[in-house]
Amino acid sequence: MNLKKNLLTLAALACCAGTQATDHTFTLNASKAGAPIQKTMYGIFYEDINFAGDGGLYAEMVKNRSFEFPNRLQGWKTFGQVEVKDDGPFERNPHYVRLRWSGHNDKYTGIENEGFFGISIVKGKEYRISFWARTPEGGTSNIRVAVDNVASMGETQTIVKADVKVDSREWKKYQAVFTAPRSFDGAVLRLILMEGAKGAERNVTTDLEHVSLFPVDTWKGRENGVRKDLAQHLADLKPGVFRFPGGCIVEGTDLETRFQWKNSVGPVENRPLNENRWRDTFLHRLFPDYYQSYGLGFYEFFLLCEDFGCEPLPVISVGLSCQFQNRDPEKAGVHVPLDELDSYIQDALDLVEFANGDPSTPWGKVRAEMGHPEPFNLHYLGVGNEQWDYKDNAAFTDRLRKFNAALRAKYPALKLIGTTGPDSEGEKFNMLQPKMKELKVDLYDEHFYRDEQWFLGTADKNKYPTCGALRYDKYDRKGPKVFAGEYACHGKGKKWNHFETSLYEAAFMTGFERNADIVHMCTYAPLFAHVKGWQWRPDMIWYDNTRSFRTVSYYVQQLYSTYKGTNVLSLTMDKKPVAGQPGQDGLFASAVIDKGMNAVIVKIANTSDEEQTVNIKWQGKKDDLKFSSAYAEVLHCDEPDAENSLDNPKKIEPRMVEIKLGEPIRIGAKTFGVYVFQRHEDLPNEAEE
Ligand code: AHR
Repeated sequence: MNLKKNLLTLAALACCAGTQATDHTFTLNASKAGAPIQKTMYGIFYEDINFAGDGGLYAEMVKNRSFEFPNRLQGWKTFGQVEVKDDGPFERNPHYVRLRWSGHNDKYTGIENEGFFGISIVKGKEYRISFWARTPEGGTSNIRVAVDNVASMGETQTIVKADVKVDSREWKKYQAVFTAPRSFDGAVLRLILMEGAKGAERNVTTDLEHVSLFPVDTWKGRENGVRKDLAQHLADLKPGVFRFPGGCIVEGTDLETRFQWKNSVGPVENRPLNENRWRDTFLHRLFPDYYQSYGLGFYEFFLLCEDFGCEPLPVISVGLSCQFQNRDPEKAGVHVPLDELDSYIQDALDLVEFANGDPSTPWGKVRAEMGHPEPFNLHYLGVGNEQWDYKDNAAFTDRLRKFNAALRAKYPALKLIGTTGPDSEGEKFNMLQPKMKELKVDLYDEHFYRDEQWFLGTADKNKYPTCGALRYDKYDRKGPKVFAGEYACHGKGKKWNHFETSLYEAAFMTGFERNADIVHMCTYAPLFAHVKGWQWRPDMIWYDNTRSFRTVSYYVQQLYSTYKGTNVLSLTMDKKPVAGQPGQDGLFASAVIDKGMNAVIVKIANTSDEEQTVNIKWQGKKDDLKFSSAYAEVLHCDEPDAENSLDNPKKIEPRMVEIKLGEPIRIGAKTFGVYVFQRHEDLPNEAEE
């Protein structure tokens, strides 16, 4: 964020609002550094929902690359003589295709992949096609790989092609790199057995397995990599923690489809397929071809955490499949019986060893063989996602107790995260919160997808007693710390990423910051959504196959994270926290000091329809109040329902605003601003007098 870019004056900002500003005085003590803001405070929640993984962050472009979907050829069309076989080289992915001569010199044999919402290429970019192949009966064949626009009105359908010679009876990996001569969205990928062409012999049977297409230019140039643009969005959030792999996906629609981390590590060719839990969740947004290749697995997640310099926070199954989808706890098979939990607990213990163990340990060795002998330094582990107990069946807490006992015995320093269930309050929450305290989890994971009134604190207090930014002011200081693990303002009847809901998220988050003594982590959710493949919204980052954009909610998170500060400062109005309380005219505010930046940072959300004026009554030692300059980053839009989009990605983004020291802050209607007051120690004291 460049101060010089888009520099506006405060006067210009004030022009946005036509009405008379009301005066307010904030009292801010700049000398007394309060609770430290945790490094983990603002983070990322990743889940493979909305085609976030395959078809999204994971840069693989071929759908059903290993022919392992239950319908083996889903995503593929075949022509000529193609047969699916099941004795391939990868034991956990045994299927492959056999291509034979068509039987006629002027007929072709081949396969065609539809990709994820089409195969999309960008002019000038390189792509790597790879596959495993053999000619089981001997000979050399030629496989023509082509990206084709089948609807082309031009002379040829082919946009770009490469020929790959297959010359071994044994399975081998073959690859070629091509450059896209032009951009195209919605092509297909064809692999054609070329009889007799380019030195290939006729009638050479060829087997193909694990057909894969990646852009060469992935994040950090990794071959089994992730999309560079999407990873850059994540890096720019400067996350303190990265929670993965979900979400309900941790639990699965049934136990079999839970996310099994052990299946997501090791050579990608041999990671077995998993049915995506979001495939069938909503009949009104059904994606029957939604599976997880596990190409983006736990190793890749840990690497991303390392790239971003943040704490990894994996969440593992507690032995309960999704309780929303399996409401009868007594029904056989939906949950793991208590006395059969051992292998699940062992998975948790092994995960810690995979992340932190010495390469001489069995799971440390797996990590080392994947290319990372150094530990990943795992400090946190979530056990269970949105779980709960029933009246006569402590389904969750009985299981959690067993996990905790085993994990604490072997890894006493590991911080364990429990859950208060799917709701921010009500029956499940009230039942679980005390139980989490009793079980002494280090943090509890809270979820709230709520409407505008809830975020503003104006919702029905009988139904929602802890709504609004004062929620955590009322929390027990001696209990577990808070991980606000999933939250987003869902506009009533709207559910899109419009400006107003993001503003209310910003307002609500002043409560996280003010209560940083107990709120140690927060992660907006969900993170990603493909415009052609979403099941749930709002989401933080949207994309199609080649483009992406940041929502206003993204910018809210980024502003908090960029200006998270090091310690909370006391900020009040009429001796009360500024949280949209009666008489506060829709203002929400919190303050921190950043010892590194040598600055005091004040976050203010004006949720009202009128411009407001804020005078800061500074308290503290004289030297602490010597500011040399000030500026703000401000998010504002005149249209509350406006949002960013693929075609207009920068419609709403933060703008830099110059602040004049000593003058009141004028904050426009419906605006969120981060106000930075910088101190420069090298300034002579007199200069400030
Ligand atoms: O974020 C989407 C879903 O919401 C998560 O998977 C789940 O934990 C919650 O219900």
